Amino acid sequence: MAEETLKLAVEDGIAVVTLNRPDKLNALNRAVRRELMEMVDGLAEDDSVRVAILHGAGEKAFVAGADVSEFAARSPGEQRALYDERRVYDAVAGFPKPILCAVHGYCLGGGSELALACDLRVADRTARFAQAEIRLGLIPGAGGTQRLARLVGPGQAMRIALSGDMIDAEEAYRIGLVEFLVDEGRHLERARELAARMARWSPVALRLAKRSIRAAFETPLSAGLELEKELFLAAFSSEDGREGVRAFVEKRDPDFRGR
Ligand code: COA
Repeated sequence: MAEETLKLAVEDGIAVVTLNRPDKLNALNRAVRRELMEMVDGLAEDDSVRVAILHGAGEKAFVAGADVSEFAARSPGEQRALYDERRVYDAVAGFPKPILCAVHGYCLGGGSELALACDLRVADRTARFAQAEIRLGLIPGAGGTQRLARLVGPGQAMRIALSGDMIDAEEAYRIGLVEFLVDEGRHLERARELAARMARWSPVALRLAKRSIRAAFETPLSAGLELEKELFLAAFSSEDGREGVRAFVEKRDPDFRGR
């Protein structure tokens, strides 16, 4: 039987999704993208899951990009039709719970864009990032200009997307492309620790906080502050919001149920 290209393990409210195509450096072919999108959608609906983590199997890569061999066989019309469909990057960016990316080795092209769609990125010291599309006569087409520029600023985004150069983990950390830098092989462990810290809290509050922060990139400040106020009030009137405040006053741990 063929090895599964995606693996899922759920423990203590944390879902760990492993991209498992190590002989192709976890390159994202169409089948993997579709499966990953279905899996992410499933995790969004699963109340036992509070936080998700993506990482790559094998020694060498998180994801070495979209599967370039598929580009070669595709017409421009077929490519447009694919782009008109909902995409895995949209599913990850729209995931209503915290979603973290644990990166080691190559994180290129669509792999880097997948990491950019996540809420937080943890890299180990082997991680190497690039938007390498320019080398193919292409440009990033899944957030590698837009999300990248919002995360690291337009200057660094220009440099990354126009040079196609690889940047190492230290530099990625320095320019804010990743939020955490850890020793070799510790990326998944660190991501799990972070996920566990988030999984303690109200799923309602996590969802609302995420929504509010993401809106910061799509709205003027005044509209963003209005939205934040409304979302605060939604948290305030949730059962979990009442429980959290009551537990503090009663000097006990809160029991958050996600309502
Ligand atoms: N799409 C399809 N297959 C890919 C791939 C990709 N993006 N990246 C790696 N692979 C495949 C290789 O073709 C090779 O398959 P094979 O063993 O059947 O020949 C296998 O993964 C291992 O890669 P290999 O190139 O032998 O490893 P390496 O250590 O010598 O080089 C890279 C690593 C990342 C530098 C090199 O694989 C590479 O340049 N990959 C493409 C990067 C890229 O352009 N990404 C997309 C940007 S849009």
